[in-house]
Amino acid sequence: MIIQKNNGKVVAPQATMKEKFKMVAKTMVSLEEVLADELRELGAENVTVGARAVEFEGDMRLLYRANYCCRTALAILKPFAEFDADDDQQLYDQVYRIRWEKLLDIDATFMIDSTVSGEIFTHSYYAALKTKDAIVDRFRRNFGKRPSIDTEQPDYKINLHIRDNHVTLLMNASGDSLHKRGYRQGVGIAPINEVLAAGLLKLAGWCSPQNSESSVQNFYDPMCGSGTMLIEAAMMANCIPAQYYRGNRFSFMRWKEFNLGEWKSVKAEEDRKIGSLDFEGEIWGNDIDERVIEQCERNLEYTKLHKDVMLHIGDFAEQDPPQGRTLIVTNPPYGERIKVEDLNALYTQLGDTFKQRYGEQCDVWLITSDFEAMKHIGLRPSAKIPVQNGALDCRFLHFQLYQGSKKAKYQQED
Ligand SMILES: C[S@@+](CC[C@H](N)C(=O)[O-])C[C@H]1O[C@@H](n2cnc3c(N)ncnc32)[C@H](O)[C@@H]1O
Repeated sequence: MIIQKNNGKVVAPQATMKEKFKMVAKTMVSLEEVLADELRELGAENVTVGARAVEFEGDMRLLYRANYCCRTALAILKPFAEFDADDDQQLYDQVYRIRWEKLLDIDATFMIDSTVSGEIFTHSYYAALKTKDAIVDRFRRNFGKRPSIDTEQPDYKINLHIRDNHVTLLMNASGDSLHKRGYRQGVGIAPINEVLAAGLLKLAGWCSPQNSESSVQNFYDPMCGSGTMLIEAAMMANCIPAQYYRGNRFSFMRWKEFNLGEWKSVKAEEDRKIGSLDFEGEIWGNDIDERVIEQCERNLEYTKLHKDVMLHIGDFAEQDPPQGRTLIVTNPPYGERIKVEDLNALYTQLGDTFKQRYGEQCDVWLITSDFEAMKHIGLRPSAKIPVQNGALDCRFLHFQLYQGSKKAKYQQED
């Protein structure tokens, strides 16, 4: 264990490569179970699912691997100190006792992200300020110098978590959120978050080990925009690690205990798996807007996935229907960021296209925050999973298409 308590004093020793310790992976609503599965596949032990977080154990190689490979994690955190504090002074004193010089470079920058709950600490900003004061005071008194604060691009992101009087300090190993995969060339009109896109694909069963036939399944996004679903789907089908395009932008690389050789070995192990799934399906996307298709092309070219993904421009209702066993996961406009003249009519057209043109070989999933427009699809969803797209409360809907007695099966719920 990395956390030690000595009569209430907290020390923060560094982990050796083989030592196992607790970690926390942060994620989004409804993606906790898929993230737990990802972590187990990577070798995590004692995996416990929480709210928008998964706790697990493993060694430093797993910390590197989880950062590099987890598609549905926003950040990997490593707890390093834990104690009780009944007021601000106790918080300050306990933080002051931590051997920060073992953790932070004096010339580096840091920031504190805080969450508080309970009646003792009620202002997260104030708790973060007290913690920062204790850190810089310790450095100043012992070394006459202190690391600086940078809230934009800090070298170290420290997470302060207080529930009632219980304080946990965690080091964010990822740095920038892991949804920043590094493949986006310019900002789209309303791109879906990459972690959410990957999570939706996993919820829909794309490339799932349980789905043994998935290697011959096709993938289609009829309203693909800048292509986030397509790229995440193609990366999964080709076993390309989630952060393959991110470069060396991980906070753990700034840690004193960072081991470049071990990182390179973990990365090489994961990169060797690229192409190992023998994926034989087709992946293609469509959008009515030529400009977003150009952007999608740029993203695909950057990832070198342009030969794996076909693109069309036009109204989805006029495109050739998918052939063969096809998974469709799409993110239509919600009317929030993209204004559509008649959103209800668009959703009616979507439902009609699924019913009349797509066969029972198609498995359709759709994310939306517009609960009114959703009713206009005119199909009964077999699953409605609550998800969050930025600040928007959304549902991820599953429609199973059947041939034959469509009327009865497609009756809309009230
Ligand atoms: C929310 S955006 C999709 C964003 C995409 N998931 C991404 O990550 O960039 C919805 C897309 O639907 C497209 N769209 C709207 N009406 C359409 C139609 N009738 N046929 C095809 N695409 C349409 C818009 O041009 C827009 O790019």
